[in-house]
Amino acid sequence: EKGGYASFMLKEIAEQPKAVADTLLGRIDTAGRLTLDEVRIPAAVLREADKVVVIACGTAFHAGLIAKYAIEHWTRIPCEVELASEFRYRDPILDRRTLVIAISQSGETMDTLMALRHAREQGAKVLAICNTNGSTIPRESDAVLYTHAGPEVAVASTKAFLTQLVACYLLALYLGQVRGTKWGDEIHAVVRELARIGDEVDRVLETMEPVRALARSLAHKDTVLFLGRHVGYPVALEGALKLKELAYMHAEGFAAGELKHGPIALIEDDLPVVVVVPSPRGRSVLHDKIVSNIQEIRARGARTIVIAEEGDESVAPYADHLIRVPATPTLLQPLVATVPLQVFACELATARGNEVDQPRNLAKSVTVE
Ligand code: M6R
Repeated sequence: EKGGYASFMLKEIAEQPKAVADTLLGRIDTAGRLTLDEVRIPAAVLREADKVVVIACGTAFHAGLIAKYAIEHWTRIPCEVELASEFRYRDPILDRRTLVIAISQSGETMDTLMALRHAREQGAKVLAICNTNGSTIPRESDAVLYTHAGPEVAVASTKAFLTQLVACYLLALYLGQVRGTKWGDEIHAVVRELARIGDEVDRVLETMEPVRALARSLAHKDTVLFLGRHVGYPVALEGALKLKELAYMHAEGFAAGELKHGPIALIEDDLPVVVVVPSPRGRSVLHDKIVSNIQEIRARGARTIVIAEEGDESVAPYADHLIRVPATPTLLQPLVATVPLQVFACELATARGNEVDQPRNLAKSVTVE
């Protein structure tokens, strides 16, 4: 049951610190090494893989987009991410050295299932990242890495998304460990950080009241735009998807670098634009570019809603609303930056009188193609 929350979605948002911790449980040993014994794909196969292809739909696809940054950075294996519904219809190039990762909360999404069947027919090895024990996708895969989010009832995916990210990071780190690529201080620092990220998510949840108030004040708006770069770009897409499915608003996510290639023409007076700012410490060039983007859109009238790391003062003069998230390694930022966007969408939907757990026209798992 809802355990005192007004909706399953609110309950599931609140359960995220535990879901994240449960998904990490028993998978990092005391020496900071990954112990994914349950990934039954032999190490030799993982060592020889020359390409990773991630297939998924909706929110799980956004987790896949983020996984690409982690996999390529930590393992140096080329990684493609594709919507499962597009994948098999374009005759993708797959062979025995391709590792396919199918991400699905329900394990029953037909598009993802058909794509993984196609991949296996071509000889690729398929590893599922799934939240539902014994469901079809893991049963039909060569191996499975379960997320331990617990049952997700609300149609909008929240805690499953965060645990999909954790599973993707674990898998990317594990691939790096098995292949001996980039295994050093940087990786150990990430593993240490990952081990305590549940607490950071908890801290974010404690500071959400201003986000809720902001959401309520925007309930009459027609459009909200979301901008991000690097791993913040899929976070922007996820924020927009949440708003579409829950608040039935026009919401779009863009890569901030694309602004001047078209989307900036959409900016008009008082248009809410959410900007996910990368850490100033990691890829600082990107950070500075996004701060310029914020200035550019603000000069054209946008109402800027800025999600930035604690201590990043450079954004303050250009933020109409500033949402702080804890500092994390660059690649892990989506785990904290997504949470305010979930709360924002849920509150906006409620303010508009929508049914948050059961949005119109949607089903929890899409079992038709
Ligand atoms: O069960 P799956 O993870 O395979 O579902 C994929 C999508 O249908 C799902 O993430 C959908 O986009 C959610 N409603 C998003 O909140």
